[in-house]
Amino acid sequence: MEYHVNEKGYYGDFGGAYIPEMLYPNVEELRTKYLEIMNQPEFKAEFDQLLKDYVGRPSPLYYAKRLSEKYHTKVYLKREDLNHTGAHKVNNTIGQILVAKKLGKNRIIAETGAGQHGVATATVCALMGIQCIVYMGEIDIKRQAPNVARMKMLGAEVRPAKSGSRTLKDATNEAIRDWINNPVDTHYIIGSAIGPHPYPDMVTRFQSIISEEIKGQLKEKEGRENPDYVVACIGGGSNAAGTYYHFLDTPEVGIIAVEAAGKGVDSGESAATSKLGKEGIIHGCKTLLMQSPDGQITEPYSISAGLDYPGVGPMHSHLSRTGRAEFFSVTDDDAMTAGLELSQLEGIIPAIETSHALAIFNEKKFKPDDVVVISLSGRGDKDLNTYIDYFKL
Ligand SMILES: Cc1ncc(COP(=O)(O)O)c(C=O)c1O
Repeated sequence: MEYHVNEKGYYGDFGGAYIPEMLYPNVEELRTKYLEIMNQPEFKAEFDQLLKDYVGRPSPLYYAKRLSEKYHTKVYLKREDLNHTGAHKVNNTIGQILVAKKLGKNRIIAETGAGQHGVATATVCALMGIQCIVYMGEIDIKRQAPNVARMKMLGAEVRPAKSGSRTLKDATNEAIRDWINNPVDTHYIIGSAIGPHPYPDMVTRFQSIISEEIKGQLKEKEGRENPDYVVACIGGGSNAAGTYYHFLDTPEVGIIAVEAAGKGVDSGESAATSKLGKEGIIHGCKTLLMQSPDGQITEPYSISAGLDYPGVGPMHSHLSRTGRAEFFSVTDDDAMTAGLELSQLEGIIPAIETSHALAIFNEKKFKPDDVVVISLSGRGDKDLNTYIDYFKL
């Protein structure tokens, strides 16, 4: 079974580039050039150097002793929360800003849900001295206020998306609209493993540094490169894609994906795409999508802004359909409890997105000898207000 993208931009039945004609030249330019650019030695050297000196990579692989004791298994946390800007998102924005420069673009747009991708984009634009506009749903602007302030401080313009559920999906619509209107000078930095081909593959490749490092770090700590399981939360699927990448073709490594069940998978307020989604097209790709019987997109819901999306990247739809990955759905309540637990067992306050991955221990029992690597995709600073309201701290 093939789990990587094929030349046509598909993962099995999913992927492709379903775009309006107006966007064709931009997406085609990217499709024909992205691999060539990414393989240039000077591109690789600049990317690697920025990841090291600016982002602070490699991120540690931390053995979580107290968490391991509690759940009778060996838990390692891949500390993407320690990256500059506080999440995995910056791995991709560093890569894409370098691609944009190679393509001669001088204006950057992005969408953001939790604000982490917006902050990571505003950061690299400041670094390179390039104009930056970030679209963000009105609801997310409220619940992720610290990140909105950070983007502004970094010199970006934050434009509210006021339609639909006023969350990530709607921000993405606005960004695509902007791109259609500014096709020549603008690069759209998509923040997850979604969108038309080649975005899912390009983002996945930039994030694959996560699993590349895990292999080397585990070899040092456990004497073997492969864990028994890798676990990640899934919004669009970029931290997950990066965490799985180098293990996709190693069947001994179990792949676990955790989605947001919101108030419960069948509550009508959920973002559990693998359970509720049917094949459809969103934001330029064919994938699993929550939709009504006549194909209208269902408004998603999750307490976590970064997981509040009605679709999932095409790689993950393929991993779900083929059974290569096990999918679990975690409610708001279970995620919040897992976030508090990590804070008090390990002294690490995670992003609420990440807390969903940490709730895996409610869903699945591991063996004492199992090595379970969890992607600690981001830190919880941006979510303090939500934690405070929820726990009445
Ligand atoms: C910390 C963190 N983790 C996970 C996600 C979900 O995105 P993805 O599925 O692309 O990793 C986000 C999105 O904003 C995030 O900020």
